[in-house]
Amino acid sequence: MNSIINDIEVIKSETTKINTVDFSNLKFGKTFSDHMLECDYKDGKWQAPKVVPYAGITLQPSAKIFHYGQSVFEGMKAYKDVDGQVWLFRPLENFKRLNISSKRLAIPELPESYFMEGLKALLEVDKDWIPKSEGSSLYIRPYIFATGEGFHASPADAYKFLICTAPSGSYFSGKVKVLIEEKYSRSANGGVGFAKAGGNYAGQFYPTQLAIDKGYQQVIWTDDNTHEYIEEAGAMNIFIRINDTLITAPTSDRILDGITRKSIIDLAKSENIPVEVRKISVHEVVEAAKNGTLKEMFGAGTAAVISPISGFGYKDEDFDLPELEDTYADHLKKRITDIQTNKTEDPFGWRYKI
Ligand code: PLP
Ligand code: COI
Repeated sequence: MNSIINDIEVIKSETTKINTVDFSNLKFGKTFSDHMLECDYKDGKWQAPKVVPYAGITLQPSAKIFHYGQSVFEGMKAYKDVDGQVWLFRPLENFKRLNISSKRLAIPELPESYFMEGLKALLEVDKDWIPKSEGSSLYIRPYIFATGEGFHASPADAYKFLICTAPSGSYFSGKVKVLIEEKYSRSANGGVGFAKAGGNYAGQFYPTQLAIDKGYQQVIWTDDNTHEYIEEAGAMNIFIRINDTLITAPTSDRILDGITRKSIIDLAKSENIPVEVRKISVHEVVEAAKNGTLKEMFGAGTAAVISPISGFGYKDEDFDLPELEDTYADHLKKRITDIQTNKTEDPFGWRYKI
């Protein structure tokens, strides 16, 4: 049955797949909810978004996404608290970043109301898909890609904005062992590293596979110019604890301005944990590992939340991190997820009720 939610047209699926999903054993991003938000850009403007059944889409073989990779995306989560209320975490930050990414990829910017009202209508229709169990959430993937046709290497004249959602468990199953990258780069000055452009991730797969083949799970990206400074951990921002100080690289052209990253910085500061946002050299981390002052390393991002690192490889040498009792990683992960899932007060005003 069709309806209107917050001015958004809703075309409901005639069937539901929800009974086929084992909510007690959710993987990350493998099963998709019944509906998606769909919004097209044509004739020079974004058309009204609609909630429609999750289904395949048809594109022309000449659509520019296939040839020139004009695509950007976001990653967010919806949480259900014990009373069944639904929450998002800092969603306007994702909206703003989507437009920052779009601008860099010459994709037309999206109106805020299409993103926010469309997302709310989608979550209303698929609210039963939002898991309640500890550590699970509805992963939300907003994305835009070029549907306009042509082999001319120039921006498309038509785009599609979709939001698909997937009830998901954790991204990594345990601690990860990482390899500090000495050759490949995920981004460069003046490039698109600060944007969530699909191509950034495609470019990571090959070097990451080389690291996997050597027994690591993720790559620690270093600066493209010298490979002497630590920048990101796979598709996450990175935090390094030396003694009691938490250090993370400053955002730049090359580094994604992560929402988890900036929330962790604010949380840590509010608890008087010393935080330094500065360049951090591989040399400093290797020396700290050797002299015992390197206490923790972890990645931070929406999908993985906080992902502790067990050790790292660099120039054919492996360094293990100590097994600590009370880690910043565990503490900050609990603080942020308690805020996200409405288990605690939200002094920063980050939670967003649906
Ligand atoms: N860095 C990269 C390259 C990412 O893809 C992500 C994931 O979104 C992050 C960092 C973390 O950003 P956020 O915390 O906003 O999810
Ligand atoms: C996220 O953390 O939400 C991301 O977008 C990373 C993704 C590559 C899984």
